[in-house]
Amino acid sequence: MDNQIRCYDDIASKVFDEEGIETNTSTEQIEVEQSILRYYKQFEQKASIDPDLPKLKKSLHQKFLRNYIEKLPQSYMSLEASRPWLVYWNLNALWTMKDLPDKKTLDNIVNFLAQCQHKDGGYGGGPMQHAHLGATYAAINALCIIGTDKAYDSINRNTLQNFLWSLRSADGAFSLHKGGEQDIRGVYCALSVAKLTNTYTDSLFDKTAEWVVSCQTYEGGFGGCPGMEAHGGYTFCGIAALALLNRTPLCDLDALLRWSVNRQMCVEGGFQGRTNKLVDGCYSFWQGAVFPIISAILSKDSKEMMETVLFNQGALQEYIIICCQSPQGGLIDKPGKPHDLYHTCYTLSGLSIAQHGTCAGDPFIVGSPRNELNRVHPLHNIGPHLAYNAMHYFIRHPPPEEDDK
Ligand code: FPP
Ligand code: ZN
Repeated sequence: MDNQIRCYDDIASKVFDEEGIETNTSTEQIEVEQSILRYYKQFEQKASIDPDLPKLKKSLHQKFLRNYIEKLPQSYMSLEASRPWLVYWNLNALWTMKDLPDKKTLDNIVNFLAQCQHKDGGYGGGPMQHAHLGATYAAINALCIIGTDKAYDSINRNTLQNFLWSLRSADGAFSLHKGGEQDIRGVYCALSVAKLTNTYTDSLFDKTAEWVVSCQTYEGGFGGCPGMEAHGGYTFCGIAALALLNRTPLCDLDALLRWSVNRQMCVEGGFQGRTNKLVDGCYSFWQGAVFPIISAILSKDSKEMMETVLFNQGALQEYIIICCQSPQGGLIDKPGKPHDLYHTCYTLSGLSIAQHGTCAGDPFIVGSPRNELNRVHPLHNIGPHLAYNAMHYFIRHPPPEEDDK
């Protein structure tokens, strides 16, 4: 892919062709394209007199995120069972912009997450709640971002490993909580957590790679479980899980790459989550992170692939910076949608992936060089050195004893 900003007339020539058959899907797609084209038109006019554009409004986003560390609005009440997620999304977004809160605030966050830890292992969505693998993944990522000994030592790795065992089924799949649904998110969260905390054992993930591969669909992406539709969120979980297991040769990588490149939208520049659906800023990470993972896999056979960017990194940055910044701070799904912590985290993580392109290589920054974000690890979605620091810390401390339940 070349590192060129796209020209408005070229973009406008690529609008969706209904081919004479109007459906709800085609109407929605055309409406979204028209709204995005208005943003690109306006941008081209402004950029002709200001070469520093497009600008990532970091201080506006930082202000939004810092306010949400102090106090969440009433509308977040429904996320009462997702509090470690709120912490992780907020910290990771701030970290990409090199703006983590002060030591005391981070210390308070460690204390709060300790209250979410369940006595039988793992983390709940809040204090006194049942443990959940999603909340556990979010809590561990947040603690690795904080990266202090106190943060690491707050994790009970013995009970954590027991918790992971309790969610595993004989075929290698994981449920998200005891008696809960089993899908590929469970496998990815269990693996990410186990690798970061050095609670991974081969027996804990026996047959897991085979189960993950059974979720790859005829389209090339991965579904949530065998037989389900390919979707960007699950596709990220699938290929990241196989990479963490070092078992990527099991899947059809050509089909995955073909499916993934076709999810980048011609007009919008951002990604859709699945075939015939609409662009959304959060897929900048879920779909975008699949490419550096594929580049790293292909680089085992051909070194230059390590620096080969497999998607249009300029177009993705244009979509995010021109169309996904809320005037109130924070990032969004698409123009007209409200800001939230989830979209702020994953759209910024996706912007970081778009700027850096691969795990190696020079960044390509659309707009001012001040738009550059910290690089994120495409498998864990935290800073690469934060993942390594945690792994090294836990390797230096004796792992819990292997227990083949
Ligand atoms: C469809 O929503 C969304 C899904 C089917 C699940 C998405 C899964 C993730 C984002 C991955 C989560 C990963 C972890 C680690 C917890 P929709 O129908 O509203 O959206 P769409 O129209 O864009 O498909
Ligand atoms: Zn979204």
